[in-house]
Amino acid sequence: EKVVLAYSGGLDTSIIIPWLKENYDLDIIAACINVGQDDDMDEVREKAIKSGASKIYIEDVKEEFVKDYVFKAIKANAVYEDKYLMGTSIARPLIGKKLVEIAHKEGAKYICHGCTGKGNDQVRFEAAIAAIDPTIQVIAPWRIWDINSREDAIDYANQKGIEVPVTKEKIYSRDKNLMHISHEGGHLEDPKNEHRAEELYLMTKTLEEAKDEPTYIEIYFEKGIPTKLNGKELKPVELLEELNKIGGENGIGIADILENRLVGMKSRGVYETPGGTILMEAHKDLEHLTLDRMTYQYKQMISLKYGELVYDGLWDTQLKEALDAFVESTQQSVNGWVKLKLYKGNIVVAGMDSPNALYDEGISSFGASDLYDHKDAEGFINLFTLPLKIRAMAKNNK
Ligand code: ARG
Ligand code: SIN
Repeated sequence: EKVVLAYSGGLDTSIIIPWLKENYDLDIIAACINVGQDDDMDEVREKAIKSGASKIYIEDVKEEFVKDYVFKAIKANAVYEDKYLMGTSIARPLIGKKLVEIAHKEGAKYICHGCTGKGNDQVRFEAAIAAIDPTIQVIAPWRIWDINSREDAIDYANQKGIEVPVTKEKIYSRDKNLMHISHEGGHLEDPKNEHRAEELYLMTKTLEEAKDEPTYIEIYFEKGIPTKLNGKELKPVELLEELNKIGGENGIGIADILENRLVGMKSRGVYETPGGTILMEAHKDLEHLTLDRMTYQYKQMISLKYGELVYDGLWDTQLKEALDAFVESTQQSVNGWVKLKLYKGNIVVAGMDSPNALYDEGISSFGASDLYDHKDAEGFINLFTLPLKIRAMAKNNK
């Protein structure tokens, strides 16, 4: 019998291999799904085998991640609780899907992951697996063993002779991919503490260190998808990497949030999403130009729900598919370019144009026009304010 282990080479997954060997009679197939976490994959491979895995799959899914996951979230303007662009939440369904594919290839009945029993990620992985193959059984060691903290985990690793990339001083729990890096734990656990930007940030310059001159960029969108940067056509991965670099230099895309986890508790997270934040802002600006009022406002409600679904790991669901269809329909007119000025954490729109623009200078400018007669406004306001007048009269007659 085989188990596919979601393996990153980090602390949480490293100690699972000796633990599985001790407690189960299963052949361990490690699976490292590369969504841009920037680890040395040769090292990961070597470490997995040295720790006792009998085989390791290393799959580069960066292109699929950006095209089918990140860009979809951007089109939907999906944000969780006003701040979090969900770099982790978006990646989990794809990783889950790949784990199932590997399980099928290997004829494995079990999938094992290193998420704790207190977090969102366990739900997301298991929802992704359940939506594809409900017969697969999940092993979640963090819900079974009595290792209760990252400190315990480090002790266990030392006992088993597993090298760990963290020390007890730098105890952050981090998750990196092409979209973002998350930081949780350590001194962040007390919301009274300001986050220590200098020691925390890995993709982004602190505001103090960010470039002293503004950077102008121009992004071109086709049907809501960014295809060009500064006039140059770029593949999805290249484009996001380039924006991460530019955004990082300008201190863009930091979110420090006390968020509500799906499992009931609040938790503090700091997120670096430089490129994603730029894309989201540019995309919203273009929607302001190309979507009419009713559609824009309805889409805001969809975005809110979309953000909740994605955070909760409900990527592969009937409702999410239906929302995608709505979003896709709106994106048909989201074409054109947006110019942005980036400076010390700020994003300022610096011009835009679209073949689908609904803005008409002739109508909107202050002068007279054929389509809009100032006199019509009087009748409109009379009807529009009728309920207000009726309510006032009723109040005044009391
Ligand atoms: N709190 C964030 C989320 O739920 C980030 C989770 C990061 N995961 C991790 N294994 N470090 O999406
Ligand atoms: C974890 O608990 O495994 C990471 C954080 C989360 O899933 O929310």
